[in-house]
Parts: sequence; structure tokens; C-alpha cells
Amino acid sequence: MLLLGYWTVILLNFVINVRCVPASQSFDATQSRFISNPERNEGLVGGDIVPPPFTKSLTGRGVAVRPAWYHRWSGGVVPYEIAGNITVNNSIFIVNQMRAMESLTQVNNTQCISFRPKNATDLYYITIFNGSGCYAPVGSWGTYNGVRPVSLMHGTYSTCMVSGIIQHELTHVLGFYHEQSRPDRDSYVSIQWANIDPSQAFNFDMYNDTNVDTQMTSYDYGSVMHYERTAFAINSSGPTIIPTQNTSAFIGQRIQLSSIDILEIQRYYGCVQLPTNSSTNTSTATTPTSSSSTTNVTTGMLIN
Ligand SMILES: *[C@@H]1O[C@H](CO)[C@@H](O)[C@H](O)[C@H]1NC(C)=O
Ligand SMILES: *[C@@H]1O[C@H](CO)[C@@H](O)[C@H](O)[C@H]1NC(C)=O
Ligand SMILES: *[C@@H]1O[C@H](CO)[C@@H](O)[C@H](O)[C@H]1NC(C)=O
Ligand SMILES: *[C@@H]1O[C@H](CO)[C@@H](O)[C@H](O)[C@H]1NC(C)=O
Ligand SMILES: *[C@@H]1O[C@H](CO)[C@@H](O)[C@H](O)[C@H]1NC(C)=O
Ligand SMILES: *[C@@H]1O[C@H](CO)[C@@H](O)[C@H](O)[C@H]1NC(C)=O
Ligand SMILES: *[C@@H]1O[C@H](CO)[C@@H](O)[C@H](O)[C@H]1NC(C)=O
Ligand SMILES: *[C@@H]1O[C@H](CO)[C@@H](O)[C@H](O)[C@H]1NC(C)=O
Ligand SMILES: *[C@@H]1O[C@H](CO)[C@@H](O)[C@H](O)[C@H]1NC(C)=O
Ligand SMILES: *[C@@H]1O[C@H](CO)[C@@H](O)[C@H](O)[C@H]1NC(C)=O
Ligand SMILES: *[C@@H]1O[C@H](CO)[C@@H](O)[C@H](O)[C@H]1NC(C)=O
Repeated sequence: MLLLGYWTVILLNFVINVRCVPASQSFDATQSRFISNPERNEGLVGGDIVPPPFTKSLTGRGVAVRPAWYHRWSGGVVPYEIAGNITVNNSIFIVNQMRAMESLTQVNNTQCISFRPKNATDLYYITIFNGSGCYAPVGSWGTYNGVRPVSLMHGTYSTCMVSGIIQHELTHVLGFYHEQSRPDRDSYVSIQWANIDPSQAFNFDMYNDTNVDTQMTSYDYGSVMHYERTAFAINSSGPTIIPTQNTSAFIGQRIQLSSIDILEIQRYYGCVQLPTNSSTNTSTATTPTSSSSTTNVTTGMLIN
């Protein structure tokens, strides 16, 4: 586990390591239209962790990362390259998810964000490869001069080739953390610390309004950036996250961006204006009800 100092941050989001789970566990019978997110931490062992290249604080909102000027991709354009160990078939699937995100987030038939193959003049771009698990950097990493690794593994027992997993990782790339990292999350979910694998507890860190920006959206159980109920559970028969406003809410969908995810991307990239009236839609008014271990903002960890 890398602990990189308080303000050294989290440039990486090690997301979802989709290990082979029996189909019966991958689907919740009552929610069969959703693909449950079988997150596992096997992919997070030392060698898989890519050290953050900067020591700058991030701010995010899925919450998006602040400061936006540093973490947004210029013009909303994300150049990419796809490594040779992604099969042609999988690269088609990945590019299809890029097209889906461009389409979902467009405003008045105009693209808001886009992904395109890098060319010779691009200095900053992501590298998509068949790594160990599914993970991605958060935000553009500014002018960092090096590889921005996006691992989208496809193996026999485990794969990231699920529409919502790819959209989740690419949303990290656009500058977003997990939904349950929002400053107001304790008003919406109850974190079951006792059932969380201690080595993975950092994945449940909560960020404050200085570090992240909810962009005046409301907490979204349906976000593609939200964890599933049993993420990083010691005992996977019990939850690690319980939705409290609606105890039967489904969390952890991995189909595609939710309407609130879409709005956040549109606002973060300036394609849709934030409401000028702060009384309209701010969720920052809600104060966390618990101060337990939720104020751990920047442990410099890689987030799943
Ligand atoms: C190619 O991908 C599609 C969907 O992504 C899948 O249904 C099909 O089985 C794949 N084919 C091969 C040969 O992997
Ligand atoms: C790379 O792409 C950008 C944006 O489309 C374009 O402005 C630039 O001319 C391209 N460079 C090369 C070498 O093709
Ligand atoms: C895939 O390619 C990337 C970049 O070339 C490399 O870092 C990675 O180790 C490769 N993964 C596998 C499973 O071969
Ligand atoms: C991708 O990685 C997985 C897991 O390491 C491996 O089983 C598979 O053979 C790799 N595929 C390619 C095309 O390298
Ligand atoms: C408030 O937010 C919700 C969802 O985030 C959205 O549907 C609604 O249009 C917003 N209202 C205003 C006035 O922005
Ligand atoms: C796991 O949780 C289930 C449901 O709460 C419980 O019945 C079971 O005894 C627990 N297993 C262990 C090993 O604690
Ligand atoms: C609570 O969640 C369930 C399951 O997603 C949904 O059917 C129901 O409409 C939700 N209730 C409210 C009040 O949002
Ligand atoms: C989209 O177009 C409509 C009609 O022209 C306009 O009223 C609206 O402001 C536009 N929305 C944005 C976000 O530009
Ligand atoms: C904000 O919205 C409220 C209710 O919609 C309205 O009463 C108030 O005048 C608005 N304030 C501003 C500065 O627009
Ligand atoms: C913050 O994280 C560190 C490292 O994971 C941990 O030792 C500490 O107990 C955490 N503090 C709180 C308040 O959760
Ligand atoms: C937000 O968290 C940072 C530590 O990550 C802390 O330095 C800062 O004071 C906090 N801001 C507020 C308003 O609590």
C-alpha cells in the first residue's frame, strides 16, 4: 500500500478488478437489468500501483476534481492510444463506449467531450492496455510528462469489458472520483467500517468541498461512479455500503452514465452552466452526520 503523504494525491483510481465471480453473484436477481460490479482487490497488490506523478491536491466531483483548470482535458478532448495487447475485438468495444459517452453528454447536438486517437503532436494522452485489473488516473494530470495508464484487462477469469466499467474508468479520466466520496455522502449512505478490509479502507475516504466539487448536483445512487453494496467486504454476505435515504436503492450499476453523471460532466466541461442561483440545487447544504473516519481526504491512495 502506498501512502504518499497527505497532499500527495490520488492521481490514480484503481478501479474495479473484475475477477471471475459466479454468474449468480454477478447478478442480483431483483436487479437483473443491472450488472453488479464485482469489485475485488486482488489487482491492487504492490506491483499494480502506479505512483502518482505529482504532489498536487485534487479536487473532484463524482464528484469532480478541483482545481478544474488543472484536471480538465483541454477542450474536453482526450487523446488515446491502445496498446497491442488489447485485442482488436476489445478495442472496438472500448471505442464504442467512448462514442456512447460522447453521445450521452452532447448538448444540443454538439459534442461536449470526445476521445480521439492520439497523433504525433499530442503531448498528453492516455494509454489503454491490458493490465492487471481495471483502473485509471483521475483527471488529465495536466502537463505531466509520462504515461497515463488506463488498464482495461480482459482475461479468462476476469474482464473489464463491461460497458459501465469502461465508462466508469473513462469518467475517472475525465476528472471524477467515486460518488461515495462526496462530502455529503454520510447523509445518503452508511459505511460499514467493520466489514471493510482494512487495507482497502482508503477506498471509502470522503473528500471535502475544498477538494471536490459536486457541481450542485444531488447525491446519485444510480451513478456509474458509485460502489456496489459489498465492495471490499470482508464478509461478502454483508454490506459495506448501505443506502440510507432509500434502503432498497440499487447502487453500483455498471451499464452506463446516469443522467446526473451526464450533467456533472457537462457542467465540469463548461457545456452546461451551473445554476446561478445557489439555492436551487446545491447538495452541499447537507452536513455529514457522522465525523467518524470520513474526513480522510488525501491519503495519496489509489482508489478502486
Ligand atoms: C467480440 O466482442 C463481442 C462483444 O464485445 C463478443 O460478443 C464476441 O464474442 C467477441 N468475439 C471474440 C472472438 O472475442
Ligand atoms: C493532431 O490532432 C489535432 C487535433 O485534431 C490537430 O490540430 C493536429 O494538427 C494533429 N496533428 C497531426 C500531426 O496530425
Ligand atoms: C500490455 O501492454 C502494456 C503496454 O505495452 C504492458 O505494460 C503490459 O504489461 C501488457 N500486459 C500484458 C498482460 O501483457
Ligand atoms: C490480457 O491479460 C490477461 C490477464 O493477464 C491475459 O490472460 C490475456 O492473455 C491478455 N491478453 C492479451 C491479448 O495479451
Ligand atoms: C436539480 O438537480 C436535478 C438532478 O440533479 C435535476 O434533475 C434538476 O433539473 C435540477 N434543477 C435545477 C433547477 O437545476
Ligand atoms: C457473514 O455474514 C452473514 C450474513 O450477515 C453471516 O450469516 C455469516 O455468519 C457471516 N460469516 C462470517 C464468517 O462472519
Ligand atoms: C427506492 O429504490 C427502489 C429500487 O431501486 C426503487 O424502485 C424505488 O422507487 C426507490 N424509492 C424512492 C422513494 O426513490
Ligand atoms: C440548447 O438550445 C436551446 C434552443 O436553441 C437553447 O434554449 C438552450 O439554451 C441550449 N442549451 C445550451 C446548454 O446551450
Ligand atoms: C433564487 O431562487 C429563489 C427560488 O427559486 C428565488 O426566490 C431567488 O430570488 C433566487 N435568487 C437569485 C439571486 O436569483
Ligand atoms: C486516515 O487514513 C490513514 C491511512 O489510511 C489512517 O491511518 C487514519 O486512521 C485515517 N484517519 C481517519 C480519521 O480515518
Ligand atoms: C479539506 O481537507 C483538507 C485536507 O485534505 C484540509 O487541509 C482542509 O482544511 C479541508 N477543508 C475544509 C474546509 O475542511
